[in-house]
Amino acid sequence: MRLSVIGCGYVGLVTGACLAEAGHEVVCTDIDSERIAKLNAGGVPIYEEHLDKILASAHKARRISYTANAGDAIRAGDAIFICVGTPPKDSGEADLSAIDHVARQIAAEAHSSKLVIEKSTVPARTGMELSRALAAYSRNGGLKFRVASNPEFLREGTAVGDFFHPDRIVVGVEDPSSAAELREIYRPILEKSFHCPVHEGACPPGHRPEFLVTTINSAELIKHASNSFLALKISYANVIADLCEKIGADVEEVTHAMGLDPRIGGQFLKAGLGYGGFCFPKDVQAFIYLSARMGVDFDILKATERVNKQRIDRFFEKIRQALWVVKGKHVAVFGLAFKANTDDIRFAPALEVVKRLLEEGAVVHASDPEAMARTKALFPQLHYHEDPYEALRDADAALICTEWNMFRRLDWDRAGKVMARKLVIDGRNLYTPEAMREKGFEYYSFGRE
Ligand code: UDX
Repeated sequence: MRLSVIGCGYVGLVTGACLAEAGHEVVCTDIDSERIAKLNAGGVPIYEEHLDKILASAHKARRISYTANAGDAIRAGDAIFICVGTPPKDSGEADLSAIDHVARQIAAEAHSSKLVIEKSTVPARTGMELSRALAAYSRNGGLKFRVASNPEFLREGTAVGDFFHPDRIVVGVEDPSSAAELREIYRPILEKSFHCPVHEGACPPGHRPEFLVTTINSAELIKHASNSFLALKISYANVIADLCEKIGADVEEVTHAMGLDPRIGGQFLKAGLGYGGFCFPKDVQAFIYLSARMGVDFDILKATERVNKQRIDRFFEKIRQALWVVKGKHVAVFGLAFKANTDDIRFAPALEVVKRLLEEGAVVHASDPEAMARTKALFPQLHYHEDPYEALRDADAALICTEWNMFRRLDWDRAGKVMARKLVIDGRNLYTPEAMREKGFEYYSFGRE
């Protein structure tokens, strides 16, 4: 099918690239003409595993193209994916002005009827407003715009794999023909008839994804309800960690045993510095805002947010307790990205830690395999090191802020020889306290003695 993607951010690019790789013809556009120029020149503006490879192969096969002219992109597709940003306002409410702007563009530029699909994460009832806006802005009464909601459940770092091997594809529609069109768009994925860019050879056996057809309001709610629940799970594990510290229990033992119950599940029970990124913090905020507006009490989500913010305070208490005076201390910060396998630093807990260290007058040496370039733009005053052992030279402490495998595998015997003080404060529970103490380190982590 011929598809348009509006917004070449993270979600738009992954969606466009994967649908082109699955065999569709995709035209992408963005208001940022520099981004389009970069894409046209073969560049990839974000780091995501496999994305460069599939963008190159789709480009070569002429299945993906980029234009700064939104009208051209809109006219090219029978179905249009809206993938623009919906950032939080100060109140927590999602800012939907980009969606409104795109609705105006579609209504003005389309020459034929379109299926308009919201891929951006939006609060429930946005589809209804979008439908109304498209009708109101259209000057051609003969054109029909059908709206659908198709939330994404992509994790940064594994987004391409997630797109091709989803647990579920949710489509919220207002009529059966929209559901049929979306089923056709996702047919290669439902039938597993694509060439998988993630797995060399055959993909591991797995169940077929469920194709769920719902109302638009339900689809929108599914996305916020899912992400908020995962955030809630993380905060729950973090409160258990606080309790473990008071009682003298081990949070890793507790959450491992909890997770073995299939009704609970072991994922997203990892205690530490808490969640960050561009999805969880803003989705939780937007869901709190939406429920309050609907007159529904969602206090557990407010607690989820509060617990998550407290993680930084708790981490800093540990730093202060260990270092006593922070001013003038040489501190190595390991990990800047909001999680491993991404260069994304938006709402990264590590950056909150860095900010506070700087406020207190510490000398910060940082290392991260992907996120240093982006962080440099915000914090030029840090000392950056590709080699983590260089960051540790003469350090008074090492702080673990992101769960990168390269930090998991650090040789602490080697590190200990170059550090001024053998002190590790681990915000992601990467190491076992006994092993670190055996190596002669003072070691502090979350929810363990
Ligand atoms: C998330 C959702 O997983 C995805 O389905 C949705 O579409 C977008 O939002 P993402 O933001 O890429 O994806 O990150 P995710 O892997 O979910 O991790 C979110 C944050 O939670 C990270 O900061 C991570 O470090 C933290 N986390 C995760 C924990 O602190 N503990 C855990 O047990 C799991």
